[in-house]
Amino acid sequence: MLHARKGRKKPKAGLAYLLEIALLLAAISLPPAKAQLSPINLPSNHDPIQGFDIPPERLMESIADLPESVQAAISSDPDRFVSMLRPVLQLASTRYFSPVDKTRSLPASYRPPHLVPLDRYRALYTSAQGLMVNPLIMRDLLRMSAAAESQGVILRISSAYRSYYRQREIFARQVLRRGRKEAARRSARAGHSEHQLGTTIDFGSISNAFCGTRAERWLRLHAHEYGFSISYPPGMEELTGYVPECWHFRHLGKEALALSNRFFGGLSTIMLSYIDDNSDWLAPSR
Ligand code: DAL
Ligand code: ZN
Repeated sequence: MLHARKGRKKPKAGLAYLLEIALLLAAISLPPAKAQLSPINLPSNHDPIQGFDIPPERLMESIADLPESVQAAISSDPDRFVSMLRPVLQLASTRYFSPVDKTRSLPASYRPPHLVPLDRYRALYTSAQGLMVNPLIMRDLLRMSAAAESQGVILRISSAYRSYYRQREIFARQVLRRGRKEAARRSARAGHSEHQLGTTIDFGSISNAFCGTRAERWLRLHAHEYGFSISYPPGMEELTGYVPECWHFRHLGKEALALSNRFFGGLSTIMLSYIDDNSDWLAPSR
């Protein structure tokens, strides 16, 4: 704003000039703007969590509906929780951390910007042409693939970004094949697939035949080092809504996975819902 006005100053009329000086003096005598903007009436003994102006009581209120084990982990070390949460929140306003599950969906029109065609990368192994991913995962995907290959393991990418409409076809095909109930345990309805984010990859045969292969065992041990985690682990159908998928990995980044492991028992879906529900007041700049 200041730049836009630069060089276009007109000489001031006497009265306007006096008024400006009066306003300036008034502004100097006001308390700092930050004090006026404090969103919460803090008690006098308010002791914000270190380095992050979150009142502890507000934080505790926000976790009240989480599983008891998660609440216990957070309340035993709120400073650490908040400091690990902070870098994650920087991406909270993007779709990158959107929870996408049976109840939370993406709009049909959502398509990540600047999708990267994997055919451009000769270092990657794909089992189909035209696959694309969200650019945010590219660096880790290349590093992970190279690390696996250096240990003699080929990670073959079989599915990546899927549009809302592509997912609708896939789900419809599953319904024809298995019936609606069984299809819903294996395939997401349109708008409800993590593949629409472009941050999710299916490796290998996209079937149970992949489980126990060298590539799958390698991913199970190392994917988290590159920020990828399995979305539908065994024994979690009640929580995730889907049968186990040893081939389906979503990229959340190392920071978010560390947060998920330390405080959410590795249940990223709970962490993502928590962030989504609370990012407005947790994010420091908003
Ligand atoms: N197979 C997973 C649930 C999907 O369709 O996104
Ligand atoms: Zn998948």
